[in-house]
This record gives sequence, C-alpha cells and structure tokens, in this order.
Amino acid sequence: MVLLAWLFYFIFLLTPASAQTWATIPFSTQSLPIALRSPYLNSWLSQGKLPSETPSAGNAGWPVFWTSSPPVVAWYIAVRVDGLAYTIFGDAAQPHQANQTAAIITPTQTTFIVQAGPVSVNATFLSPIEPTDLVRQSMPFTYLYVDVASTDGQPHAVQLYSDISAEWLSGDRSMICNWTANTNSDYISLQTQLQSPIPFAEIADQALDATAYLSMSKQASSTWQIGRDVDVRGQFNTSGVLLQTQDSNFRAIADNFPVFGISVDLGTITKTFSSNVWLLGLLRDPVVQYSNGEGNNELRSPYFWSQYPTAQAAISFLLNDFTRARDAGNAMDAKILGDAQKISSPYADMVTLSARQALSAVDITLKKENNGSWNTSDVKAFFKNMGGVGGPGVNAVDMLFSTFPAYLYLNPAIAGYLLSPLLEFQSSKLYALPYAAHDIGLAYPNATGNSNPHNEGIEQSANMLIMTLAHAQFSGDGTLISKYYPLLRTWADYLVNNTLSPDAQTTSDSLTSANQTNLAIKGIIGIAAMSKISEFIGDHSFTTHYQTVSSSYESEWQSLSLAADGSHLLANYGLQSSSGLMYNLFADKLLQLNVVPNTVYQAQTNFTLQSSKGSPYGLPIDSSTPTKSRTDWMIFAASSASDSATRDELVLQVHNFVTAGVTNEAFPLIYDPTSANFTGGPGSPAQGAMFSMLVLNHTLKTPSVPPNSFSPASAKVNAGAIAGGVIGGLVAVAIVVFLAWFLHRRRQHIQSEKHDPSFTVDFDGVRKPGGYHTYSSGTIEPFAESTIHPFTVASTNTSSHPNLHHTVVPRGLADVDVRGSHGSEYYHRRAGSDSDVGPSASQVGGPTASEGSERPLPVAPASNVLMAKQTLVNEELRTEVDNLRREMERIRIEREQAMEAPPSYGESH
Ligand SMILES: *[C@@H]1O[C@H](CO)[C@@H](O)[C@H](O)[C@H]1NC(C)=O
Ligand SMILES: *[C@@H]1O[C@H](CO)[C@@H](O)[C@H](O)[C@H]1NC(C)=O
Ligand SMILES: *[C@@H]1O[C@H](CO)[C@@H](O)[C@H](O)[C@H]1NC(C)=O
Ligand SMILES: *[C@@H]1O[C@H](CO)[C@@H](O)[C@H](O)[C@H]1NC(C)=O
Ligand SMILES: *[C@@H]1O[C@H](CO)[C@@H](O)[C@H](O)[C@H]1NC(C)=O
Ligand SMILES: *[C@@H]1O[C@H](CO)[C@@H](O)[C@H](O)[C@H]1NC(C)=O
Ligand SMILES: *[C@@H]1O[C@H](CO)[C@@H](O)[C@H](O)[C@H]1NC(C)=O
Ligand SMILES: *[C@@H]1O[C@H](CO)[C@@H](O)[C@H](O)[C@H]1NC(C)=O
Repeated sequence: MVLLAWLFYFIFLLTPASAQTWATIPFSTQSLPIALRSPYLNSWLSQGKLPSETPSAGNAGWPVFWTSSPPVVAWYIAVRVDGLAYTIFGDAAQPHQANQTAAIITPTQTTFIVQAGPVSVNATFLSPIEPTDLVRQSMPFTYLYVDVASTDGQPHAVQLYSDISAEWLSGDRSMICNWTANTNSDYISLQTQLQSPIPFAEIADQALDATAYLSMSKQASSTWQIGRDVDVRGQFNTSGVLLQTQDSNFRAIADNFPVFGISVDLGTITKTFSSNVWLLGLLRDPVVQYSNGEGNNELRSPYFWSQYPTAQAAISFLLNDFTRARDAGNAMDAKILGDAQKISSPYADMVTLSARQALSAVDITLKKENNGSWNTSDVKAFFKNMGGVGGPGVNAVDMLFSTFPAYLYLNPAIAGYLLSPLLEFQSSKLYALPYAAHDIGLAYPNATGNSNPHNEGIEQSANMLIMTLAHAQFSGDGTLISKYYPLLRTWADYLVNNTLSPDAQTTSDSLTSANQTNLAIKGIIGIAAMSKISEFIGDHSFTTHYQTVSSSYESEWQSLSLAADGSHLLANYGLQSSSGLMYNLFADKLLQLNVVPNTVYQAQTNFTLQSSKGSPYGLPIDSSTPTKSRTDWMIFAASSASDSATRDELVLQVHNFVTAGVTNEAFPLIYDPTSANFTGGPGSPAQGAMFSMLVLNHTLKTPSVPPNSFSPASAKVNAGAIAGGVIGGLVAVAIVVFLAWFLHRRRQHIQSEKHDPSFTVDFDGVRKPGGYHTYSSGTIEPFAESTIHPFTVASTNTSSHPNLHHTVVPRGLADVDVRGSHGSEYYHRRAGSDSDVGPSASQVGGPTASEGSERPLPVAPASNVLMAKQTLVNEELRTEVDNLRREMERIRIEREQAMEAPPSYGESH
C-alpha cells in the first residue's frame, strides 16, 4: 500500500497543475490527526471536501481541538529561505507563498510536504504509540520534526521556527496565563499555565490544570522568545533570530495572543542530515481523582512520574529519545499497516485514521503510597469519552466495548487497566445495583463513582462480561476474573433474568423501541462468556449452567428474531418490517463462542449485502432510524459478516463516509448514511473499533488464574488453610466425608429417574404463531404443531415475562430453569451485608420466588430431563460446599476479631 501511495504521489507530481494542487496520501480525509496524546493534547486539522487553498500555504487553517465546532489550539511552523519567510503550517499570513504538495498520514504520524521557494520542507507530527511501554505510552508529549532539502541543487540559507499559543490551556480564552522560559539546561523549554488553575475542571472539554511545554534541544544557533504573536513571528520573519526575551505582562490567552517560539538557524545547506525536533507536552498531575469505593479518593498520576518525577526530567529524556521514538513509530506503522493490509487497502486506511484517536483517550496511572513510593502493581487506566456519545462518563462502558479491539490488538494489558477501576468500584459497598454501571464518574477526570440506576442494564452488564473475558483470553491473565468472580456472576444472573425480554431497555444508541434483538443477543453472548469465565475459575457447575442457559436462550431468541421468511434478523422481536446492523454478533466472533449458528450469520450477511447495495455510505443502525449510522457498528457488522464480499463492501462504505468530506469534524462516530453528514461523536475514541478485524481468529489463551475460593476444589484447600489448626482439620475432614456421602446419594437418585427424549418449555403454556426454531443441524423451519409440548415450568416468576416462550431445543441443551439464577441470592450480596450465610440447598435449584418475597421458594422437580437434573445436583452440591466454606470464614473472622486490632495506617493523602 505504501508503494501504491507513492505511485499515486508520483503520478500526482507529474500531473500538470490543476485546481487541487496537493493530495492527502494514501487517502483524503475530512480531518487530519495532528497531535493526539491525551484527551487534552488532542488536535486535528480540518479538511472538509477539498483542502482549503489559501493566500499563504496550501494547507492554511489552524489546528483545532477535537470537539465539534472546535476552537483553535495553535501550533505554527515557518521557514526562512535566503531571507524570505514562508508559512509551513498554521494560518498566519506571510508575504511569500509556500505550496503544499502532499500530506501523508500513517497510524502514528502526519507529514506535510511543502515547497517553500527553492527548498522542500517535510514537517512531521509524530504521536508515538508505545502500548507495551507504560512509561512512554503515558507521557502526554508529541514530537514535531522538520527536514529540509534544496530542490534546485543550490545551497540556501535556512532558518526554522515553531511556536504554540496558550490556547491549549482553557476553553475560556479570557483566562489569565503566565509563563516561564527554562534555558539553563541543554535544551530550551518554554512553559505556560493558567495563573489560577482549577484541578480536575474543564471548560469546553479543555483541562484547566495543565501546563504546556514547547521544547527543543539547545544548539549553538537556537533562539527563543515569548511575546505577542505578531511580534515574535515578525521577529523571525525579518531576522531569523529571536530575541531570547519574555514579555513581562501576564495576560489572557486571547489578549494579544502570547506565543512561545523557538527557532534554529541551519546555516547555508542543501539538505538537513538530522531532523530538527520540537517537543510539545501538555502535563497534568494528578490526572484523575478516583474513588475506590472504600471511602478513599485516590489522586492518580501518569505512570511515567514513577520514572521521571519532574516535567524537566521527562522533557530531557524525550528529546534524547527522539531517534528511537521515530524508528519505533515507523516500526509500529509498518506492523499495523502490514496486518491491516491483509484485509484491504480501505481497511488499512480506517485503522490508520483511528489509531492515535483510540489511544489518546487514555491516561495510564499510578498511585503514590503514603511512604512516597509508587505502587506499580496497581496500574489503572482512565478513558475520557470524547465525543460524549451516550454521555460523557469516565470509562464509559459501551464506548470501551467499541474501542476494545484496539487495546486487545496493541496490548491487552491496557484493556485490563481500564476494566480494573470499573470492577473495583462496583464490588465495593457503594455500588448495589444488580447490573453493571454505565461508567465510574459523570465527567472526566472525576472517576468518583456512579451508582445511578439506568436503563442499559443488559447492555452494560454484557459489555463488562464480554470485555473481562476478552481481556483474560487475550492477555492470559486471570487476575480480574478471579478477583471479581462474584461480581461477574451477579451480572450474569442479571442477564439470565432479563436478557431474553429486554422490553424497553436501551442500547448505547439510545434506541427505545421494544425488545431489540441486537440487545438481547448481546446479553446471551454475555451469559456464554460467563460460562467460559466459570470454566477458567474451575467452578464447573456454573460452567454448565450458563452454557445451558445461553444455548436455550439462543434458540428462543432465534424464534423471536428471525424474519418469517428466515431471510434476516429483525431489529425488534416479531416486527417483520424491521432490520438492523446486528453489530453485537461481533462479540460472538471475538470470543469464538459460537453462540449463534452459521446459518444465521449467513442469512444476515446475505441480507446486509443486498440491502447495502446502492447505499454508498452504509446502512443505518436500525431501520427505524434511516439517517443514523455509526462507524464502529458498521465495522463490527463487517467483521461478523460470513463472507469477504460483504465485509469489504461495508468497509468501503465507511471509507466513503470518511473521504466524502461532507463534514470536517475529527473522525466522528455518528453520521447520516444518506448524506455522509456528521451527526455526533467527534473525536470519539470508540473508533478503536476499526481494529476489530485484527483481533478475529486470535489464538485465545487459557488464562492463568490465581488461587481463588470459588472452585470447589480450591475452596477446600483455602478453607482448610484459613481456619488452620484443629478446627480447620476437623472441618476439612467433615467436608470430604460429606461430599462423598452427598455424591453417592445424588448419583443413586439420578439413576433412578427416567428421561424424556425432548424438552419443551413454555412459560405461560401458550404458543405464539409464526415462530421458528433451529435444530442443531442448523436448518430453520417453522414450528410444526405436533412438536410443541407446552409445559409450565413454574407458575411463579412469570410476571416480568408474561409471554416468554421456550421453543423445542435439542436434548442436552435445555435447563429446567433458564431464568432463575441459582444461588444468585448469595452472589448478589456484598461485603457488609447482613448475613454471612447463603441459602440452604433446599432454597436453590429452582425458579426463585417472585419479587418482594424474602427467600426463594423450594420448587418441586419440574422435569425429568437428565441433563437438567445433573445441573441441579451440581449446584446443590456446590451450594453445600459454599455454605461450609462460609461457615469456616465466619469462624476465622470471629477468631481474628478476638485478637487485638492491628495498628491502623492513615489513609488520607
Ligand atoms: C506556488 O504556486 C503558485 C501558483 O501555482 C506559484 O505562482 C508559486 O510560484 C508557487 N510557489 C512556490 C514556492 O513554488
Ligand atoms: C520528505 O518525505 C518524503 C516521503 O517520505 C521523502 O521522499 C523526502 O525525501 C522527504 N524530504 C526530506 C527533505 O526529508
Ligand atoms: C504561574 O501561576 C502558577 C499557578 O498560580 C504559579 O504556581 C506559578 O508560580 C506562576 N508562574 C509565574 C512565573 O508567575
Ligand atoms: C471534578 O471535580 C472537581 C471538584 O473536585 C470540580 O471542581 C470539577 O469541576 C469537576 N470536573 C468536572 C469535569 O466536572
Ligand atoms: C434474578 O431474579 C431472581 C428472582 O426474581 C432474584 O431473586 C435475583 O436477585 C435476580 N438476580 C439478579 C442478579 O438480578
Ligand atoms: C440472498 O438474498 C437474496 C435476496 O434476498 C435471495 O434471493 C438469495 O436467495 C439469498 N441467497 C442466499 C445464499 O441466501
Ligand atoms: C450537515 O448537517 C449540518 C448540521 O446538522 C447542516 O447545517 C448541514 O447543512 C448539513 N450538510 C449537508 C451537506 O447535508
Ligand atoms: C418483549 O418480548 C417478550 C417475549 O416475547 C414479551 O413477553 C414482551 O411483552 C415484549 N415486551 C414488549 C415491551 O413488547
């Protein structure tokens, strides 16, 4: 592709001058990424349909912030050749016109090639992507490097100049900033900050507590100046040497715009042999305040502070690190493009455009311990939901779900650092909802918790289960699934209770129509993910339970979701006129769960290809919203297509949107597929979804799970160890004896029962006409009246699912109670709840009592299906073990309490 790009470039160079005098390589796009290293160091250059032609440079216009109708965040570059000054980048007028010949975009870099009189200038913005190096990845700095070559064979006198304004410091440009020049080291560093910074506060998405640094290694010929924009730039234009002075009048950002300029005189040259490097940093510390749910407000610092505890140390390191950083950037570009090119060139373009965007939303952080040391074993990452789709919340779960492929591809550990604060907060006392939170704080950078009820319980619970399993299987690290197993089970049980009948629950798209099939299947995939998690934990009865539930739900779901002619999935249960993108099937592919059979993928793929014909910019998310689509869901739908023709078509449609130039927003998430117009989510990091095809067919790992107390086997071991001494020994013996007796008894019991060849459940005993079901062979056929054996499992617990209807499923896939969550009563309870003792064996194993009832009612065996029985037995057994384990835990706690309380260490900062 690089070759192809250059071919185009040379063709372009040979083409006689036409109306458009330059090209963006390898593809034109509505907005070019410039400096993207944090939610606040995040600037773009708007392009629109055609690059703007201007009086001075081909690419006039200031770089702007990522938001919609964005403010300027100025970064300016000029060159002086034989005494004549030209603008290379930025919109300051110059007497002499430079002409841009190309802009080149790669995953980590954007280069402008500009002809300035007799020299050609390459100005490259490099935003490093160093995902496996947490020190470098967490440094909010970006490089600009400039190379010059004479194009007429003659040597020329060349000086280079770059500056920034204080516009990086606030969305309110009347705020007062001050500044300092640090010139005593082997580099020049000009810094500016608000005179009255406000920690953790924002105006128009810009942070009010940042310090900007523009720096350059000191050379004999380098000079600097701080002052009014026209003065400093004018000084460079006329003499090429700056005054090394600073304006003493601290003032508002937009009051005679103070700028911070550094120039270098290259002498008389034919070309530069090493790049001239500027470094822009926008530093904050702490970057996030985080409530861990235990009453502690943690002030989290960027990871790199553990290595470089001052801004000056970081700047010095990075200036010396430039050559390596550029090589690493080129290597990262080659890797990403090499992988993406295997899909297609348009696909590689989409990955190119999204890479910096996906990573720049993240702050990777550490916490300082009370003794002043950094706790590097407690890494947490925080994600600003730039673009605000679904609300601005911190670590917004549905947006993480979209962007997860980027992190899984680049370094799955980052995925874990992002999940960690979500899981930690929600397993604390401060969180009591039975479903997963939307985020952990209402606005970045305040990750101070969010326990508010919401209407996306299925969406977010399933997202969390899917992402937590993906992290475990991509990283091989089972710490999170082990540590938060009870919490994950609560969410799975919530899905078991709710996902088949989502009713008015909404998705990330805020669609409010009833019973969205795409939402229901996400929940079913979430339950299947939980089965895997239980498997890795060694909690085998629940592996079977969740597997059984997800299989039977999937059959049921198909009967409600497939169109009457079997041609495609409906957007809403039974609504024959509806269709949609069904992007959640991507999770099934990502985790290789095979929840949905190939026949359904094939029908949906065919339908998608047919309906996307003649729609150049893709399909709407849902047929009820014909003017609303999303790039992430388009790419997820493409990734789950079962043939490459459909996949490539959808990718091309997203590509068409990006290159149409109807809008000039920073790669926005939401758009109108009928017009390619922007409708929302500018700068959204959810564009990390573009990486989705690079994480399919991945060799998934079996995570290594630290010892946990949830598998029956280790429960015995742990409990014995904990209780210790004589008591522990006696109890352990008791468990073994009890288990042996119990197993023996239950085995006899099962063997004495006959089993039915088929299994049919209908919660209200009424069959709805027009349903479909799938046999394991995958054929889809209408119900035959004779195959229906209405059978009421339980008369309780149907209130919320009056019409819930279970189709015939192959024997072995059915479970008696597909909705009741066995034992969830216990798992739902949190530390500090009123009782340590779970339900007894007689209280679990059947559908639970209706809402409001104190305890689950014992329910008579509902069916003599062997499989279902085994599940019940397993769970009863498991519960007995749990009860014993808890009993021992209670004994342990009593013993501990009897001992003297340990000295307490202050928790405050
Ligand atoms: C830029 O292009 C204009 C118009 O095509 C031309 O007149 C001018 O000489 C060019 N400048 C340079 C530096 O090439
Ligand atoms: C500018 O970049 C292009 C493309 O990488 C390269 O061919 C050219 O030599 C570079 N020019 C300079 C002055 O480095
Ligand atoms: C600029 O303002 C900050 C915050 O009030 C202050 O800490 C710093 O000393 C000031 N710098 C100068 C040079 O006045
Ligand atoms: C975060 O909380 C602080 C108070 O701790 C407040 O001043 C600030 O405005 C909040 N930031 C946002 C973005 O809401
Ligand atoms: C599932 O439903 C049962 C019965 O209504 C209830 O007892 C249980 O708490 C629910 N579990 C979750 C996690 O919502
Ligand atoms: C694909 O869809 C078209 C139009 O709906 C239909 O005619 C065709 O039979 C389908 N092909 C397959 C392989 O399902
Ligand atoms: C795109 O949308 C904006 C605002 O929603 C509107 O002003 C503009 O006219 C639209 N452009 C096109 C080409 O439809
Ligand atoms: C959703 O689907 C279920 C199962 O078919 C049905 O019982 C329920 O009434 C539906 N809800 C709405 C709001 O249509």
